Order: sequence, then structure tokens, then C-alpha cells
Amino acid sequence: MNPCALCILLLGSFFPPALCITTADPALFINGIPYSTRSYWMRRANKALQDVTRSLCPFAAFGTAIVNHTYAQGLGDLICIGANQNGQTGNPSLHGEIAAIANCTAILTDPKGRFRLTPSEAQAAFADLTLYTNAESCPMCASAIRWAGFREYVYGTSIDTLICKGWGQIRIASVDVFRASFDLPSRTRLMGGVLANETDPYFLWQYDPTYPCPRGCSRSPDGMSS
Ligand SMILES: *[C@@H]1O[C@H](CO)[C@@H](O)[C@H](O)[C@H]1NC(C)=O
Ligand SMILES: *[C@@H]1O[C@H](CO)[C@@H](O)[C@H](O)[C@H]1NC(C)=O
Ligand SMILES: *[C@@H]1O[C@H](CO)[C@@H](O)[C@H](O)[C@H]1NC(C)=O
Ligand SMILES: [Zn+2]
Repeated sequence: MNPCALCILLLGSFFPPALCITTADPALFINGIPYSTRSYWMRRANKALQDVTRSLCPFAAFGTAIVNHTYAQGLGDLICIGANQNGQTGNPSLHGEIAAIANCTAILTDPKGRFRLTPSEAQAAFADLTLYTNAESCPMCASAIRWAGFREYVYGTSIDTLICKGWGQIRIASVDVFRASFDLPSRTRLMGGVLANETDPYFLWQYDPTYPCPRGCSRSPDGMSS
């Protein structure tokens, strides 16, 4: 047996094989950024929920933070946040990632804002940015991430976990969307499972009446947290 096959076999006994083969160990120092920094921004993606929806436990608990990490030092620069706004706006495509991309575009091109970029400069700016989302993107959002040409895409909870816990999903993993997008000029580094121990609880209560509500929330008689 070749050593590589043995390695996969051994790792497979500790980790789910699909995760191990398609995404890196989230604790690694990828693109020069320590796990503590990744965790900081994943927590910011969680907190975007509260900032945008004004609820501690929105049902559609999908939050995003978009960050510029290309500075040599420090945590990086937050460009914008976003959270799922389907319910608030009636727009079914406003998933957290799409809302954040729209918000960042508005912030980057705001004539009175920090950046004051032209539309073409704003489009080009995404190549420096990292998108953190507390759950793996659906194929619509994963495609938008590739179209935007982000430098990095980092998720917490996996689509597999969402499916296991009752969420209706279009069953195409982000790695499959990325694999199919080789015609696009940009490249995006994909990292998954980052701080999943803290993102998972946002998604485990909605369809499971025995799972505790998120901190600060309680279950209303219809079974929803509020
Ligand atoms: C991101 O950081 C790089 C390096 O400092 C800078 O050149 C670029 O303009 C920044 N992009 C945005 C959108 O702030
Ligand atoms: C857009 O991002 C800004 C900066 O992070 C944030 O203050 C604002 O709440 C966000 N707006 C929406 C609608 O998500
Ligand atoms: C989640 O895991 C990370 C990394 O192992 C750890 O630093 C963090 O404290 C954990 N969070 C909780 C709430 O246990
Ligand atoms: Zn989506």
C-alpha cells in the first residue's frame, strides 16, 4: 500500500473522511493567519446575527463577516457584516453571504464612506477579502463567492451538519461548486469547520425540541425560540 493511501486510511479512522480529504484541518496556520484570528472573525460572523436582526436567536441564524487580511499584521480590517434577511425583507435570495456582499459593495462605493471606490474598483477589491460565514454556503452563495473572486472563504458548520439537523438544503457542497468553477479567472482558498463547536449551536435547536435554545433565548409555545 502506498504511504499516502495509508495516511488517508489512518486519518479516516479519526475524522470523517470527506471532511479530511476536501478541507484542511481548521486549526492550521493557513495564508499566515493563526487560528485565534480565524476564531475571532468567526465569532464576529455569529455576532452579525444580533447586530443585523436585533435577535439573540433568529431562526435563520446565518451570519457573515467580510475582512481584509492582506495587512501584514493584526487581526485584519472588518469591511462589513451581513445576516440572513429573507424574513425581514421578503427577498428570498438575501442569505447572509449575499446580504454581506451587497452591504460591502454599498460600503466600498459609498461616495461619503471610508473607501469611495468606483464600481470597477469595488469589484476588484474582493480579491483581497476573506468571507467568514458561520455555516457552509448553499450553492447560490458559494457561486456568488466565486463570482466575487474572494481571496478566502471560511465556514463554520458544514452543510452535512445542517442536513443532519433537519435543514432543507440544496445538496451541493461548496467544494463541488469550487471544483466546477475553474473557468473563472480568480482563485479562492476554501476553509471549513472553523470554530464549528461555537457555530453549530446556532443551528441545532430549530428542528429539535430537545436541544437547548441559544443563550439568552427561550422556547415559545410554537416550538420556535424567541
Ligand atoms: C486591503 O488591504 C490592502 C493592503 O493594505 C490594501 O491595499 C487594500 O486597499 C485593502 N482593501 C480594502 C477594500 O480595504
Ligand atoms: C453593513 O455592514 C456594516 C459594517 O459592518 C454594519 O454596521 C451594518 O449593520 C451592515 N448592514 C447590514 C444591513 O447588514
Ligand atoms: C471551541 O474550540 C476552540 C478551539 O479548540 C476553543 O478555543 C474554544 O474555546 C471552544 N469553544 C467553546 C465554547 O468551548
Ligand atoms: Zn446561501
